[in-house]
Amino acid sequence: MTEDLIAAAREAMSRAYAPYSNFPVGAALRAGNGKIYSGCNVENAAYPEGLCAEASAIAAMVGDGARQIVEVCVMGQGEPLVTPCGGCRQKIREFAAGSAAIHVCGPQGIRKTVTLEELLPLSFGPGHLK
Ligand code: THU
Repeated sequence: MTEDLIAAAREAMSRAYAPYSNFPVGAALRAGNGKIYSGCNVENAAYPEGLCAEASAIAAMVGDGARQIVEVCVMGQGEPLVTPCGGCRQKIREFAAGSAAIHVCGPQGIRKTVTLEELLPLSFGPGHLK
């Protein structure tokens, strides 16, 4: 089921532009329209201008006209789990329900699955502004 998402994150990770951190990350989202959108981190010589993999994938999704994230796969390498950074948790929150599954992956596949609510409890979201 999630194999397609994992494969997309793996492929995206292989295209990461991370010459400064040497820390490639890939992300893939399953959207409400059933499509998969993926992205990688894109770093910059002006360090704060770098883009996270999740942000790249979300931009691809919104640019294609979709606005609902059903499931997310984030993939990194090495021993520590590569969980979405704080900013990316909030970016995912904009388009996902608290129950959305976030699969934390290594190159071999899923290492841990959590919900967005677990990653970002008591979150602020679009509903607060209605
Ligand atoms: N990175 C991501 O792409 N997503 C995350 O959630 C964690 C961090 C990237 C940003 C930077 O290019 C590199 O990993 C090291 O922080």
